[in-house]
Amino acid sequence: MTIQERKKAIPVPQVEAREPIPQQNLRIPGPTPVPPVILAEMARPMINHRGPEFAAIVRRVTARLQYFFQTSSPVLTYPASGTGGQESTIANLFSAGDHVVVITIGSFGNRLAKIAEAYGLQVSRIEFPWGQAADPNIVEARLKTLKPYRGVLMTHNETSTGVMNDVQTLTTLVRQLAPDTLIGVDAVSSLGCAPLEMDPWDIDVVFTGSQKGWMTPPGLMMIAASPRAWEASKSAKLPRFYFDWASSRKMLEIGQHPTTPPLSIFYALDLALEKMLAEGREAIFLRHQHIGDYVRQRAKDMGLRLLADHANA
Ligand SMILES: Cc1ncc(COP(=O)(O)O)c(C=O)c1O
Repeated sequence: MTIQERKKAIPVPQVEAREPIPQQNLRIPGPTPVPPVILAEMARPMINHRGPEFAAIVRRVTARLQYFFQTSSPVLTYPASGTGGQESTIANLFSAGDHVVVITIGSFGNRLAKIAEAYGLQVSRIEFPWGQAADPNIVEARLKTLKPYRGVLMTHNETSTGVMNDVQTLTTLVRQLAPDTLIGVDAVSSLGCAPLEMDPWDIDVVFTGSQKGWMTPPGLMMIAASPRAWEASKSAKLPRFYFDWASSRKMLEIGQHPTTPPLSIFYALDLALEKMLAEGREAIFLRHQHIGDYVRQRAKDMGLRLLADHANA
């Protein structure tokens, strides 16, 4: 084929016309509706991501995220979705063949286990029926029967069922049984809207996604690691590059990212965090609790059966 003939092979595409997107009454766990004032913030011009304006945004966002994570560890950010947090946790903490336990109560717990297996870890699942939270007594009994494990991974809010695990109790019991265990918590859909205290509860890794509790569009994953997890990451041998914590931390110290950060998402998150602080952490938690109770009550009034037990919904 000549160059001329090859050029003709891919014609200008005939596609549907772009349509305006009508106002949404969005009732999914994420992306959540973004307030117009925050969407408007994303229209700000692009800046040099190696310059002082971006460094100032990073400093503000990081300090405020540390407050919402309740951690003094640096909060790293990656252009990624929530699944990137799951993968990043596994890739930075473990080496091939390590034995990890995944406590799973639904689809996203199962995904943690699948990623761990994809990375060549030995995975023991402690599974509960969908709609239920992990029962700490059953978890404790199962952990006692397992061979030594390096890590325990779990979801906080299991978005697929709307059930919240009692992470504080689960973490406490794991620490009592095996104090050095690396505990990773997927808080993609709970951080910022339900209580989760990384340092006080002695959790090693917590991650979340911008599209859930943060009034921000999808595209940014935020993750923090405890000193124990940082130490473990030094000897963890799983391959990693994009999600390597050490290179992100080094760049964070100078207000930058190793790669090009999603600037517009940062503009949005910067304002969203300002608004969240103005409302107050506890007030936000209460508001979510009230909305959840209201929706569940109205669903029941309509004759619908709820999957999640009220106590853990
Ligand atoms: C708890 C939890 N973990 C992980 C994910 C995966 O996130 P993403 O779809 O953003 O990759 C989700 C998404 O809904 C989630 O709710």
